[in-house]
Amino acid sequence: MTVKEKIDRLRAELHRHNYNYYVLNAPEISDKEFDDLMRELQELEKEHPEYQDDNSPTMRVGSDLNKNFTQVAHKYPMLSLGNTYSESEVTDFYERVKKALNEDFEICCELKYDGTSISLTYEDGKLVRAVTRGDGEKGDNVTDNVKTIRTIPLVLHGNYPKSFEIRGEILMPWVVFEELNREKEAREEPLFANPRNAASGTLKLQNSAIVASRKLDAYLYYLLGEELPCDGHYENLQAAASWGFKTSEHTRKAHSLEEVFEYINYWDTERKNLPVATDGIVLKVNSLKQQKNLGFTAKSPRWAIAYKFQAERALTRLNKVTYQVGRTGAVTPVANLDSVQLSGTIVKRASLHNADIIEGLDLHIGDMVYVEKGGEIIPKITGVDKDARGMLIGEKVKFITHCPECGSKLIRFEGEAAHYCPNETACPPQIKGKIEHFISRKAMNIDGLGPETVDMFYRLGLINDTADLYQLKTDDIKNLERM
Ligand code: IVH
Repeated sequence: MTVKEKIDRLRAELHRHNYNYYVLNAPEISDKEFDDLMRELQELEKEHPEYQDDNSPTMRVGSDLNKNFTQVAHKYPMLSLGNTYSESEVTDFYERVKKALNEDFEICCELKYDGTSISLTYEDGKLVRAVTRGDGEKGDNVTDNVKTIRTIPLVLHGNYPKSFEIRGEILMPWVVFEELNREKEAREEPLFANPRNAASGTLKLQNSAIVASRKLDAYLYYLLGEELPCDGHYENLQAAASWGFKTSEHTRKAHSLEEVFEYINYWDTERKNLPVATDGIVLKVNSLKQQKNLGFTAKSPRWAIAYKFQAERALTRLNKVTYQVGRTGAVTPVANLDSVQLSGTIVKRASLHNADIIEGLDLHIGDMVYVEKGGEIIPKITGVDKDARGMLIGEKVKFITHCPECGSKLIRFEGEAAHYCPNETACPPQIKGKIEHFISRKAMNIDGLGPETVDMFYRLGLINDTADLYQLKTDDIKNLERM
């Protein structure tokens, strides 16, 4: 066997094992055997750069040499879907389609994955480009990063069209998201609010080796091209699965409005057991011919609609409202609650945003309040159960007039929702917040200095503004805790 044949054989074998492991969840060899094959291929490729291939399984480890993303025009614009939260609008959609088509039709019911959308182009069975949605007309070329996602095939198998696009959602599974935030917390870095932001933030990283370590996943749900195998969208997705793509195993065809609602109602609760975030259901007319007849409005297809789930809600007691002062002096009201279980976590605090929101809710201490958490880290208060108020109604929540940290009178700028503490130079959280912002990764990126150290230096009177950081003497700090 020549070296080239050896390399080709190893690549084919690794593509197959990768697919078995990540897409089918059915590995045929041990992790150790897989790693050994990978190492063997890496060594051969290093010795023989003349056989370099952009779609080799070794490309999945990423590199730290990627440069800025270039913009690429989408061949077919990336549109979004009409959204609704109401069941009656789902009925309206169904009736509209029925009337317009005036013939039998099927509806393909899918989960609406809550990640970041991606468009993949394949030519001759090879991934050639991965582009973000961008503004719908053009997006960022993130191919190097996408190649690190193991469930996205670099090379296809079976009977695929010569040239096509496939679109889907890149997701960060809940467990990966939670782990990443735990690590960020330990490093005193700002957390990702939800897995969607984490997935899109990761996809835009300049270093694909870090992307590779973030364990993103992808579900593909939309094929585009001139030579697709079937007229049915559902059938095309099944074909795509046979070429090596990960498609959702929960997609179903419905033949009546009742079946559509059965699907919606089932997933409204069952989605909580999925490993990734979903925020609704997507309904699509299955036949591509019928889709074409229905066409598009300026923004979205007439043949599809997204039904969004209500965010999860819990009822609990409001005990008090406290106020946080940020680096800009903005004052945020925080509801302190009786602990309550919500979407798998215990919630004790929720954001109240600003004085207008508090006023609009007509909040009183002791009220039973509704807390919602739509995949966000910080839950919010969305309503008050006024019927639960007894004879003894608590004190009305009034926004504070003075800063809880320094006592200054708060101000509110014309047309702005937030209250501010104007004491920029002597209000502790503003001073510390500004210094923390200055040293943070996106600003000066000063290693080894986090909020807790800033807090200690400030308490000891060693720093009062960012300039003081440069006056710190080794003698001042060498004997301090954590130094
Ligand atoms: S179909 C022209 N199917 O939801 C229709 N989209 O506003 C193309 N999404 O941008 C989209 N799951 O990022 C489709 N099963 C699914 C989806 C889905 C999530 C996202 C997608 C799109 C947005 C729709």
